[in-house]
Amino acid sequence: MNAPAPSTPKIPEHDPEQVNIDPYSVPLDKLDVSNPYLFEADVQWSWFKRLRDEAPVHFCAESEFGPYWSITRYEDIMTVDTSHKIFSSEPAITIRDQDDDFQLPMFIAMDRPKHDVQRKTVSPTVGADALRYFEPIIRERTRDVLDNLPVGEPFNWVEKVSIELTTRMLATLFDFPYEERSKLTWWSDMTTTLPGQGMVETEDEWKQEMLGCLEYFIGLWNQRAKEPPSNDFISRLVHGEATKDMEPMEYLGNLLLLIVGGNDTTRSTMSSSVLCLDRNPEQFAEMKANPSLIPDMVSETIRWQTPLAHMRRTALEDTELGGQTIHKGDKVVMWYVSGNRDERMFDNPNDYDIHRENLRKHLSFGFGIHRCMGNRLAEMQLHTLWEEILERFDRVEVVGEPERTLSVFVKGYKGLNVILHPKT
Ligand code: HEM
Repeated sequence: MNAPAPSTPKIPEHDPEQVNIDPYSVPLDKLDVSNPYLFEADVQWSWFKRLRDEAPVHFCAESEFGPYWSITRYEDIMTVDTSHKIFSSEPAITIRDQDDDFQLPMFIAMDRPKHDVQRKTVSPTVGADALRYFEPIIRERTRDVLDNLPVGEPFNWVEKVSIELTTRMLATLFDFPYEERSKLTWWSDMTTTLPGQGMVETEDEWKQEMLGCLEYFIGLWNQRAKEPPSNDFISRLVHGEATKDMEPMEYLGNLLLLIVGGNDTTRSTMSSSVLCLDRNPEQFAEMKANPSLIPDMVSETIRWQTPLAHMRRTALEDTELGGQTIHKGDKVVMWYVSGNRDERMFDNPNDYDIHRENLRKHLSFGFGIHRCMGNRLAEMQLHTLWEEILERFDRVEVVGEPERTLSVFVKGYKGLNVILHPKT
């Protein structure tokens, strides 16, 4: 396998000032919720509430990502997510299209039958047997990370815990050289950060980084090809009947899916759980007294946070939804971030409540044939983290405001400063 040469195009230019606008002052047909600055400032909620109440299936004719439909109510999102014959995952699953000259095929952005065979090829890496094998490894690493944290002084939880733990896990899933694992974080962040937003300046530099990633992984591909099959993602792709002859860009696309899928999302939840419990000390106290509440807390955090704000589909035919006609070829965005706060489904949806009776019904893992492949692994990592935190600390105190990611897709944190209070 050899890496192809790169090429050029355009980056969306959003208006940072939109965060100061009252959504109720904007004509309904001009409402555009696709500006990442709204998410970075955490002011998107009233924009989505207005859409849910007044135009739950809403067409935005002009945006930096082109025209798109917004689906904002829980039930409508379920309908779209489970109707894969009408709403295709091709050519892309984010509101932003891929560049024509830098297409990265990946199975999350494929329809049946190709999606199914590729998913089946790699899913055993995070299947039930694998999880039993991973459990002690995850626990041992969680202990190691927590035991080496500074106590009684502020530090960034995102960097020292959330990124560290998810990167170690990713290295294991890929059987990636452990000492070089920070490369995985770099490529993961690169994939989700637009040029000019803090990592590289130009589209060309971005592509060079991606091709650097491919080149590195081609080395691992060639290595695994000489070895007997094993359970890591790369070996499964190398030896899988459906994937062993894939083109380099498809290999890269699938790698980025598996890197980002297993990284940013779990990372955001690890940070968010600290924030939620610090802001709701009475629920933290209950969980401390009764650690069997940890799984409920994790599910509620995943609902409340919604680590991926949206998934996008493309209509394969004209269809009716919520009294609107969606035309063949239209871009349809399922805003999980809104569905998880739909008051028609969740009482007081903006409250964080680990006793919520339907907290497992959140949309954060999606539904249908593309439902998250790593949800059990993510939950296991989060359960273990909190079991071990409760063994050691009386409180994880958040200091200052979190710094949120500038993204309309990955809804996470760049910074969350905390002070640890050891158990007395
Ligand atoms: C798909 C969320 C953790 C791997 C998805 C989807 C969502 C999601 C929303 C798309 C669902 C749809 O289109 O219906 C999350 C969240 C996580 C998480 C919130 C953590 C809290 C993980 C982990 C992995 C992973 C740990 C492991 C590597 C994948 C893959 C897909 C996927 C491979 C594509 C599935 C397909 O297309 O069939 N995830 N994810 N995810 N996720 Fe996750």
